[in-house]
Amino acid sequence: MRERIVQDLHEVGTARRKLQEQSELLERQTDELRRSNLELEQFAYVASHDLQEPLRKVASFCQLLQRRYRGQLDDRADSYIDFAVEGAKRMQTLINDLLAFSRVGRTKNFAPVDLNVALEDALGSLETRLDEADAVVTGDDMPTVQGDRTLLTQVFFNLIGNAVKFRGDRAAQVHVSARHQGDEWILCCTDNGIGIEPQYAERIFVIFQRLHTRDKYGGTGIGLAMCKKIIEFHGGHIWLATEPDRQGTRICWSLPADVEAQDETVEENAEGVPADSEPASVGTEDSPHAAEDDPGKV
Ligand SMILES: Nc1ncnc2c1ncn2[C@@H]1O[C@H](COP(=O)(O)OP(=O)(O)OP(=O)(O)O)[C@@H](O)[C@H]1O
Ligand SMILES: [Mg+2]
Repeated sequence: MRERIVQDLHEVGTARRKLQEQSELLERQTDELRRSNLELEQFAYVASHDLQEPLRKVASFCQLLQRRYRGQLDDRADSYIDFAVEGAKRMQTLINDLLAFSRVGRTKNFAPVDLNVALEDALGSLETRLDEADAVVTGDDMPTVQGDRTLLTQVFFNLIGNAVKFRGDRAAQVHVSARHQGDEWILCCTDNGIGIEPQYAERIFVIFQRLHTRDKYGGTGIGLAMCKKIIEFHGGHIWLATEPDRQGTRICWSLPADVEAQDETVEENAEGVPADSEPASVGTEDSPHAAEDDPGKV
């Protein structure tokens, strides 16, 4: 009996040591990963920042050549210069995008953000594009969350901008929904455009990855990568909602619910604010298949 107890104690001791070793290893690996991630971000930032200056020079001298010497050399020389100008401009756009991308998350100034205001701001910036496309954008009542207002506005801007750009032949109809689920908000931007094949669900969020050529639809492929970085910086995630027979595209993202703001809403409602001023609940017109909005399904 005593031997058994000693044996058991020995086994427990060994298991505990192993567990300790494993957790130390995990901690070291996490530290290493964090460090290399930081280094990579730093690299992207420095590279894109320092490349701006020499590139500006190349671009402006190519443009000068184009302006001063057009027609003085032969046609071939003119078109070479045009290519150089176009290439330099494109590189400037890519570098500016990369710089903006690597800036996300460098400083954290979170405050309560009323997403109704963020959505309004984004729609204001998109006004010309929306008019040109005869787009109709509707939205649920939005919650207030903790976050960076500029960045959260940019998410709406990029997603609604995409919905309008990739509208196909029809006038764009876009709906932005919000519903409360557990301790987070699930927001979705749904359009009636050309749609995205489910096999590209991951690829569309990778920086500079696009599914179409530039002459068909303009852009560098930064929008969704930016949204992903912003949402993850806010402690949420973003995904393409894939449903069989879905026409158009639905991109959903989660954001941690601001507990204090929620309490305030509950109190306000208890004081007699009309029920229709509450945030929309599960099963609103934009989420008939609530389960399909679940990130676990993608
Ligand atoms: N609403 C949408 N409908 C159809 N395809 C889309 C939609 N949103 C994104 N995509 C596809 O995903 C790709 C990546 O989107 P993303 O916003 O990152 O880049 P972009 O719009 O092409 O360029 P940028 O955002 O830099 O202007 C797009 O090129 C397009 O192929
Ligand atoms: Mg885009």
